[in-house]
Amino acid sequence: MNIFELPGRIGLAPMAGVTDFPFRRICFEFGAEFAFTEMISAKSVLMNLEINQQYLPRSEEKGKVIIQLFGSDPYEIAEAARMVEDQGLWVDLNAGCPVAKVVKRGAGSGLLRDLEHFRKVVRALRGAVKRCSVKTRLGWDKDEFEKIYSILVEEGVDVIFVHGRTAKQMYSGKAKWRIYNPGIVPLYISGDLYTVEDIKTALEESGATGAIVARGAIGNPWIFSGDRAPEPMERLVIIKRHLDYLHQEYGDYGAVVFRKFVAGYTKGLPHAREFREKVMKLRTVEEVKNEFEAYFRNFSNQATRFLDTGGMYDENIPG
Ligand SMILES: Cc1cc2nc3c(=O)[nH]c(=O)nc-3n(C[C@H](O)[C@H](O)[C@H](O)COP(=O)(O)O)c2cc1C
Repeated sequence: MNIFELPGRIGLAPMAGVTDFPFRRICFEFGAEFAFTEMISAKSVLMNLEINQQYLPRSEEKGKVIIQLFGSDPYEIAEAARMVEDQGLWVDLNAGCPVAKVVKRGAGSGLLRDLEHFRKVVRALRGAVKRCSVKTRLGWDKDEFEKIYSILVEEGVDVIFVHGRTAKQMYSGKAKWRIYNPGIVPLYISGDLYTVEDIKTALEESGATGAIVARGAIGNPWIFSGDRAPEPMERLVIIKRHLDYLHQEYGDYGAVVFRKFVAGYTKGLPHAREFREKVMKLRTVEEVKNEFEAYFRNFSNQATRFLDTGGMYDENIPG
């Protein structure tokens, strides 16, 4: 195993369609110590597809972003990894994605169906790059993490990321935090980390080196700051900043990309359902900003009181 400095304890997990440059930037501002790209197809790297420039880390975040590849062919993974490794912190292999179209091709968590083939892919990756990690689930249809862990150690990966569910579970049930972890390789835990307290408990139960947050960071990037959720008007400032970053990246298409974050940013707030419906139809970043501004200004005093109590807002009470 290569000994090297880890980028930190708490990072932003990879999420296809979510962890783009603008969102990574917001999470870094709140203290995420490292992040991942969205998963990138190894085949598409070999084909030199232009789109990958959008996914790969930018120069200003180079030392903090892990490049995640997916694929099932050892040669393709190795070659693609070699081509991109210098553009990020290191290359990670996706062995966890349970989405049918990825699994069908033997990639993502599909790799966990045949652990001998999985080993070959990991070996090829290991042989191609200076540093590498694997992000896995506990197993395909049962918890085989002990076996998977041994393969990863034997093949010499530097870091393991594990989402405490099997592939078959998809996102159902509760993620397991008490997992096999003999501490031979740095291991980061993932799954159901929605609060600072969750992160703390998951770290204690797993004995992991660190944790990566996925859904719990969507519309909630302050989870990385480790302290209180921001007041409504502070939250508005963050939302507007996120929208500015999206606009810089995508122009007005940023309004569409932002739709994934609206539920998170308005979670538990009054009349959120009606508001979300309205925002989902908007097509320019300026319109989304104005709508958020009006919404937050409308209930800010009341919402401050609500957030202070830490209770759930009753949507039936007029704001
Ligand atoms: C929308 C979405 C996209 C995801 N995309 C990826 C991906 O590209 N690569 C990957 O390894 N995991 C991906 N994941 C899995 C997450 O990284 C994480 O392991 C999983 O969601 C459990 O963590 P959470 O409960 O904090 O969300 C994705 C999850 C979500 C919700």
